[in-house]
Amino acid sequence: MKNGLEDVIAAETQLSDVDGEAGRLIIRGISLDELASTATYESVAALLLDGLTERPVSEAELRGQLGLMRTQLFAHVQSLDQDLLALPPVDALRALIARLPDGEDLDAALRLLAAPAVFLPAILRLQAGSEPTEPDAKLSQSADILRMLTGRLPSKEQTSALDAYLVAISDHGLNASTFASRVIASTRAGLTSSVLAAISALKGPLHGGAPGPVLDMLDAIGSGENARGWLAEALDRGERLMGFGHRIYRVRDPRADALKQALRPLVSAGQVDRRRIELAESVEQAALAILRERKPDRPLDVNVEFYTALLLDALGFPRESFTGVFAIGRTVGWIAHAREQALEGRLIRPRSVYVGPLPRAA
Ligand code: SDX
Repeated sequence: MKNGLEDVIAAETQLSDVDGEAGRLIIRGISLDELASTATYESVAALLLDGLTERPVSEAELRGQLGLMRTQLFAHVQSLDQDLLALPPVDALRALIARLPDGEDLDAALRLLAAPAVFLPAILRLQAGSEPTEPDAKLSQSADILRMLTGRLPSKEQTSALDAYLVAISDHGLNASTFASRVIASTRAGLTSSVLAAISALKGPLHGGAPGPVLDMLDAIGSGENARGWLAEALDRGERLMGFGHRIYRVRDPRADALKQALRPLVSAGQVDRRRIELAESVEQAALAILRERKPDRPLDVNVEFYTALLLDALGFPRESFTGVFAIGRTVGWIAHAREQALEGRLIRPRSVYVGPLPRAA
């Protein structure tokens, strides 16, 4: 048995390929670098859903449909009571999505793509003591998310930076949350059920729960001079360095550089303090060096979460919401894999080896 199903092929897919040795990610045949610098959330969503819904949906139609869906779904925000608002944002998000009907058609897919984009900003504003901002159906998903979060229209740089992030994390092979989505889809339970299972997997600190702790780490380190000592003490405590290591990548996660690139226009526009990037770069170098020393036989490099933390912080998302923003982007990957599984797969039902006690001889 392979612990953690490491290296076990559990599906064939036409959606994405993660080459851990080469440090390469392709989505529907297009390299991540090209996609992250040119695609919008809507274009990558249309690309991933292509051929997986009962009728084709173009990028333009998707943008319009998502705008209408965001407007319709805003009414659900009223059910955010004090109990839900007392939960971490991703848990409150999960609870709101649980109210949506299950289904396997395009309508169900569009509803689930729009839902987290409306719900998360509303949850964050209510938790901060502000009233939620109503969606604007005319805007793109990224622009409307930022507008609903801050109450102001975002700059072009900010919208492009969020698009780059949502594109970069839209799909990534058979990661834990996507595998969860496929397992649920294989029983034909429906897309809402797949997304709920996937969000529940994503929130774990070993998976999508890492970017918030990355920011905590950078704040705790404070300056480049402190990096090595702080990191050594963390490893001595048996802790893992958030934002480093990956089950597949044995070299640098290509999304790390794509997100670093997406930060540059925000730095030029003065929306990110250059010193924050410099601190992150010095912590990154110190972490790579100490991980090489401490784990010489295990290549541990920077993963997607490290620069995600700086980008989402720069866009005004509170760190406790980063997993929720990850869910906004990854929902289209979860849905695409769920549809691929429902259309081409069988019920997912592996076997286990029983190692428990045998019945006493009669
Ligand atoms: C994501 O799968 C995906 O594609 C996920 C993702 C996606 O897009 O969906 O890419 C998103 O989840 C990125 C990863 C975010 N998580 C973190 O940054 C948390 C910190 N990283 C880890 O905990 C770890 O690297 C994992 C969970 C990501 C991968 O762990 P594995 O492959 O199960 O490796 P392992 O736990 O077996 O560790 C192997 C060795 C261990 O040393 P030993 O106990 O054998 O001596 O490497 C060490 C680990 O202790 N190790 C680390 C480390 N990651 C692994 N040591 C310190 N810091 C780390 N970050």
